Amino acid sequence: MMAANGKKIWMDGRLVDFDNAYVHVLNHTIHYGVGVFEGIRGYSTPKGPAIFRLKEHVARLIASAHVYLMPIPFSAEQIERAVLETQTANDVLPSYIRPLVYRGEPALGVKNLKGKVSLAIAAIPAKKYLGAGSETGVRAKISPFRKPHSDANPSFAKACGNYINSYLAGADATKDGYEEAILLDQNGFVAEGTGENVFLVRNGVVYTPGPEADILLGITRDSVIQIARDLGYTVVEKMLTVNELLTADEVFFTGTYAEIAPVKEIGHYAIGERVPGPITRDVMETFSKVVHGEEPKYSKWLAPVPPLAAPTARTRS
Ligand SMILES: Cc1ncc(COP(=O)(O)O)c(C=O)c1O
Repeated sequence: MMAANGKKIWMDGRLVDFDNAYVHVLNHTIHYGVGVFEGIRGYSTPKGPAIFRLKEHVARLIASAHVYLMPIPFSAEQIERAVLETQTANDVLPSYIRPLVYRGEPALGVKNLKGKVSLAIAAIPAKKYLGAGSETGVRAKISPFRKPHSDANPSFAKACGNYINSYLAGADATKDGYEEAILLDQNGFVAEGTGENVFLVRNGVVYTPGPEADILLGITRDSVIQIARDLGYTVVEKMLTVNELLTADEVFFTGTYAEIAPVKEIGHYAIGERVPGPITRDVMETFSKVVHGEEPKYSKWLAPVPPLAAPTARTRS
């Protein structure tokens, strides 16, 4: 769980005090789940604070909003600037940055397409999402709740409503004493975690479900595929069976909040030696250097946060 606290929330161009960042209880998004959001991380680097893959996150936010016919009243450049400004205003690292696109005015009726589309951005302290096992290995279970088919709920859009499915799977796993759930798709293939993509390693080859699967195409997933290939590993995107998962040499999750988290057990099954395997460790180590600005080759993935960015938004207390 993440503690939600901070100093300021950016709301439609204004920095609002954290404790005053409210919307009406009859807003469309809270009732029907029609909203889209992003999860982004800020890290410290030798050159100062930086946001990891900001452009890609903002592009995905805009694409998700497009799917739900929610035109965001800010350009990509304005949203990127707003994220940097929110990071500066909250002055916290590592940070978890949460842009949310929502219809905030009181309006009931599921077909409401007219309500004003708003954007809010928070930047709160980031913690280890999957707890102590985030580095040494987490215990996961295969969820009894399956991912809906993308024909019903497009998984490539990061929509608020998609997360009732993640909630059900995550709550069930938590109640059973596991750190995370792995959801299968409607045909029984491996899909993803509640907020992470899944990778496995067999005989030195790295596998992960491809774009044809009912998954969010994670930005960490994309980073890990590129890093693993640059490290010389073969990465194959394909549909994966439960059998391939349970008999893998290594399994790990990837996600902005979870970063790279090794999986040591799935249900009753040990994965490898119940410790992070060599390829998982290799990728984890490089990823950590990349996000902290210690691998110049990937510096294009880091957007520097101006330390004293002149506010572009008015401050309201
Ligand atoms: C359902 C789901 N899958 C995968 C991911 C990983 O995506 P990313 O690496 O872009 O954070 C997330 C997190 O945003 C998610 O919520």
